[in-house]
Formats: sequence, C-alpha cells, structure tokens
Amino acid sequence: MLKDVENLEKVEKPSRTTFRLRNLEVFPNTILSPMDGVTDAPFRRLCRVLSGDRMGLLVSEFVPTDGDAVFNLEGHKQLRFFPEERPFGVQIFGRFPDKMADAARKIAVALKPDYIEVNAGCPAPKVAGKGSGSGLLRDLPRLQEILHDVCAALDGCGVDMPLTLKCRIGWDSESINVLETLRIAEGEGVEMLTVHGRTRLQGYNGLADWDWIGKVAAAARIPVIGNGDVNSVEVARERIENYGVSGVAIGRGAMHNPWIFGQIADAWEGKPKRVITAGEALDVFKLYYGFKIEDGSTDKGAEGRLKQLAARLCKGFCLDDATSGSDVAMQVRQALLSSSCAAELLDRAQSLKEGVAKDLVFDPGRLVNLNGAKETELKFGDQFKGR
Ligand SMILES: Cc1cc2nc3c(=O)[nH]c(=O)nc-3n(C[C@H](O)[C@H](O)[C@H](O)COP(=O)(O)O)c2cc1C
Repeated sequence: MLKDVENLEKVEKPSRTTFRLRNLEVFPNTILSPMDGVTDAPFRRLCRVLSGDRMGLLVSEFVPTDGDAVFNLEGHKQLRFFPEERPFGVQIFGRFPDKMADAARKIAVALKPDYIEVNAGCPAPKVAGKGSGSGLLRDLPRLQEILHDVCAALDGCGVDMPLTLKCRIGWDSESINVLETLRIAEGEGVEMLTVHGRTRLQGYNGLADWDWIGKVAAAARIPVIGNGDVNSVEVARERIENYGVSGVAIGRGAMHNPWIFGQIADAWEGKPKRVITAGEALDVFKLYYGFKIEDGSTDKGAEGRLKQLAARLCKGFCLDDATSGSDVAMQVRQALLSSSCAAELLDRAQSLKEGVAKDLVFDPGRLVNLNGAKETELKFGDQFKGR
C-alpha cells in the first residue's frame, strides 16, 4: 500500500458538505459532470453502485434543441433516466430562445426531472461555432434571452422545476466574462451555476483556473459549483475550503475513479477512506459490461465503452513505490486496449487480476493533469484560434 495513501486514509470533512437547490438538500455536495458519449444511464449506474448511491446530483448528457422543427421527446435517447437516479437534471443546449423554452417545458411536464440545466460551456466547433454551448458566452444578450424564456416556460408549466446553468469562464483569456454571466443568471432566476474554470479556447488543455471560480463563488447569491480537474477526495475538500464553492462537479475524474463520489461521501460522513485495490479496479469492467448490455447496447458498443473506461482507469495503476507509468501498469492498459472484443477484454482483466496486477496499487488521485495524450496531441485550443 502507498505510504502517502495510508497517511491520507481519513480526510477531514470540509466546512460544507451539502448544498441546497430549491427544496433539495444535496449530499454529498458533488455532481457527476455531464459528458456526452460517457455519462449515459449505464455509466451513471456504475458510479452510483460503486459509490453506495451517494452521488449528489446526476445530470443527463446534453440534449440538442436546435435540430428539430418541433422538439420531440422520443428523438433523444439522452432523456432516459431511472427513478433511482434522482435527484436528476436534464441538460439542454441550443441557440434559439423559443426552441430552448419549448424543449424545457416539454421535458419538465412529461419527464419531471428534478431540474433543467442550460449548457453554455460546450467548446466543440459544431456547437460553439454555431453560437450555442460556449458560443453563448460571446453573445450574452442571447444567453439572457434564453434564460429568461426557459425560466418563464418552467414557471408557467405547472411543475416545480428549478433552472440551473453550466458555463465556462469566458470565450478566451481576453474576454473572461463569468462575473457578467453570473449577474445575468441570477437576474433571470437561475438557481445554481456550475463554472468550468477554462475558456472555450482552452478546450480541455491546461488546468482549470480556480481563482476565477472563487471570484464567482464570492460574488454569488446562488450556489456555485466549481468544476475542473477534481480527481480525489483531497482535491474536492481543498477546492470547497479554499475557493468557497458550494460543491464540486467531477467529470473525467469519475472515469479515472468511478468510486470517487462514495469516497467523498465516506470522508464527509467521518468514515476512513476506502482504498480500492487493483483487483477491484479490474473487476469493474465486468460490472460495466453487464450494465451496458442490460441497457440494450450491442456487444461492439459495450466494447468501445469498456476501452474508453480502461484508457482512463488504468492510468491510476502504479507500483507500490508510486512509480508512475510503470511497465506493469502500461502492460495492463495495453492488454485491455488491444483486446479484439469485449469477451477477450473481460478474460484479460481476470487473468491480469490473478497475475501481474497483484503487484499494482490503484491510486488515481496522483494524476494531476486529466488530459489524455490524444487531447494534448490534438492541440485542442489551436483548432479554434480566430473562430
Ligand atoms: C467527452 C466529454 C464530453 C462532455 N460533454 C459535456 C456535456 O454534454 N455537457 C456539459 O455541460 N459538459 C460536458 N463536458 C464537460 C465536463 O462536464 C466538464 O465540465 C469538463 O470535463 C471539466 O471537468 P473535469 O476536469 O472534472 O473533467 C464534457 C467533457 C468531456 C471530456
């Protein structure tokens, strides 16, 4: 076992362990940050089961509203959620206030999630380039109109439904406008703001700027949830204490460590930190595969998701002297990623567990930069220069 992990086994709870969203008292003060193509119902179920059902808030992958002439609930598989996932939010994105309001009203009335969220953070060219997602940060009057119309639609739909917003700190470092976004959001009746501490131009590169997140939290009357690079109980605690946020949203950190919400809840409940063994980490693939198949995924689809998880999760393996990227850890990752099908990946996970992985520990908290090699190679920010 790692020495420093031993020392950190009991993490003191922060001064804040819950936050309030209208009538909901949320514990722990965490959100599984939405990730398109990742946080579908089976992935959310995986995190929920591994965390003993203590997830804070769950939210859908983002749902487009621009495409259809008339918003059609049946056309969007991201809208499916299960009663045990509550409290659950549905996130929508688009650039037309009337379409956003129509979608929000239909979702609220038919599906009755616990809240609706507007996305003003997505950096992808096909979203931001067309003026929605983080594109709204370049057109705050339009963002204001969207929030106004969605809020009015929710107020008038006869269902008790708070509106929340998720944004980045601005379009680029020359135009950081997150305090203005906060002012508009509060003015239009938004009841919680999640701030991802990067600009759109940054994509997922570099590290999130928590100083800006802290400034927003200090200025806000509504709960502000900080987001960006939280990957351990220790980091979650430090962010809540040092930046005054009401809670933290965790995205990629949950792919590296799907137990993270339970570990946070344990710490906030005064329990010792649960150390996950390499064997337990390798067992997770079988569980996830079962959830994907039960959810109607094809075998090929499930294989893709197993590899997506393996690529992140295996980065947490190291030798017990904390050697990062050790040969054995690399060998485990390569063996899983080069499997020819899901069955082979599951077989390999089992043999590795009984073989070389016995020498490994699982300590994803030591990863500082959650960018995958691919994201770094792509020079994500450069793609958007001047657009
Ligand atoms: C593959 C991927 C898909 C994402 N999809 C969404 C999305 O649908 N809605 C959203 O608000 N943010 C989305 N995000 C952003 C994350 O929710 C989060 O803000 C970001 O990854 C930073 O947090 P992290 O450092 O904890 O990962 C996505 C991120 C990734 C990596």
